Amino acid sequence: MKGKFEELDRKIAEAKLGGGEKRIESQHSKNKLTARERIHFLLDEGSFEEIGMLVTHRSTNFGLDQQVVLGDGVVTGYGTVHGRLVYVFAQDFTVLGGSLAEAHAEKICKIMDLAMKNGAPVLGLNDSGGARIQEGVVSLAGYADIFYRNTKASGVIPQLSAIMGPCAGGAVYSPALTDFIMMVENSSYMFVTGPNVVKTVTHEDVTSEDLGGASAHSTKSGVTHFTYANEIACINGLKRLLSYMPQNCEENAPSLPYDFKGSEKREQLNNIIPENSNQPYDIREVINGVIDADSFHEVHKDFAENIVVGFGRLAGKSIGIVANQPAFLAGVLDINSSNKGARFVRFCDCFNIPILVFEDVPGFLPGTDQEWNAIITNGAKLLYAFSEATVPRITVITRKAYGGAYDVMNSKHIGADMNYAWPTAEIAVMGAKGAAEIIFKKEIANASDPEAKLAEKEAEYAALFANPYNAAARGYIDEVIKPEDTREKLIKAFKMLENKVEVMPKKKHGNIPL
Ligand code: HXC
Repeated sequence: MKGKFEELDRKIAEAKLGGGEKRIESQHSKNKLTARERIHFLLDEGSFEEIGMLVTHRSTNFGLDQQVVLGDGVVTGYGTVHGRLVYVFAQDFTVLGGSLAEAHAEKICKIMDLAMKNGAPVLGLNDSGGARIQEGVVSLAGYADIFYRNTKASGVIPQLSAIMGPCAGGAVYSPALTDFIMMVENSSYMFVTGPNVVKTVTHEDVTSEDLGGASAHSTKSGVTHFTYANEIACINGLKRLLSYMPQNCEENAPSLPYDFKGSEKREQLNNIIPENSNQPYDIREVINGVIDADSFHEVHKDFAENIVVGFGRLAGKSIGIVANQPAFLAGVLDINSSNKGARFVRFCDCFNIPILVFEDVPGFLPGTDQEWNAIITNGAKLLYAFSEATVPRITVITRKAYGGAYDVMNSKHIGADMNYAWPTAEIAVMGAKGAAEIIFKKEIANASDPEAKLAEKEAEYAALFANPYNAAARGYIDEVIKPEDTREKLIKAFKMLENKVEVMPKKKHGNIPL
């Protein structure tokens, strides 16, 4: 018996060493943790249960039979984060560069299947040279098996991807199919084709970092939702993100205990909106002034900054926040901000997270660039996403709600449950100046002093429409409230909507304008 037990101990020790001391040292020298170290920092202490530690590849191609490593370059299993069950896979770059082939893929699929059956999130820690070249088409098949499961699991269980090394070629499409991607600055990159292929095809000289590093994907492409300075910060970010979401689409997100005092005035909110309605202010001041202290977890912070999205808590309950940002491009809606908002709204709706909208939007961004790149189709995504969302939905109009953007930003007409406006709200077809220029065009042109006439007509239009009262008179706004009362109103309204049930017409699935 002793010998048999020793054999098991030997195998476990061998598996835990992955690609060996030298490669582990090399990993550390690049400021990267190993797969097992990452899992150690991610999961609650002692909670990890490994599955498939002794799995090996079966290939003999190109000397692979001389490179059989227990676990086949990916550590998989389950454990808990803050006491809640999660399934995890962590690719091990020390084994054949973390490359993925038949056995490696089967291990990932196994935990994905378990996660689906048991209704718990899948966390993927990616660090891989991509398809294992020696194994050929079985590597591609392995990827496709994962993509298929990613798609089936979408909207059923949360899927989160941390990119902690290379992620290239078709491999990028697994993270892309998951709900959120996070990257580590200067040690991770994602691209469909690397710098060498780019050079050959387009003659561009570009580094891996510039092409597909954390900065490129957080600011330019929006592929990544979060970036972190190092792996520990990334792992902590992953844990925090999880705390806002439920285990699966049948559950609600966990809430923190909260003692509602009955009155929750926030007087500082009264002083945020500038006197001049063309002056910017930071919508984050409004968000942070309304929600529970330090609870805002911003998503896509550096991408399409004209809209701010993220998770927060209101009286301890998880909510998703979508807010126009007057401090960036005046908060205008464009292609990227529409996509960013739509994607976030759909995530919240999939996972029963109520949505709170703060609206201050002058309209859609004009111009050939926007039109030729399909602001029509892309703007429609945001409209569609709000319209199909059945979670509790509340809007607070802080200032401008102009034109089509008024409709799009969770208006009463597209199914919002409660719509509030501050007394500073301006709900109109367009800004007063633009409106006066159009409807009084002839009168202004014929006036002895056209500028004075324009100012007069602008003031006339503003007096009539630059307020929330026309909309309130029609019930499009349920209540005009002082900023200081916003938190209290929202806590009560979300509580009132807690048991909301809305059934959509029977269909296979909708056809969101992609
Ligand atoms: C097999 C691989 C591998 C791969 C790396 N290795 N990638 N083995 N298949 N795809 C091995 C290396 O041979 C090396 O083995 C070890 O991993 C570490 O790699 P290094 O090159 O020494 O590391 P580094 O200098 O850090 O460079 C990492 C790298 C580079 C940039 C990822 O290895 C690389 O370019 N790999 C190939 C990437 C690629 O083209 N993959 C296919 C993408 S297409 P030894 O034994 O020497 O230590 C794809 C299609 C998916 O993935 C399609 C899905 C639909």
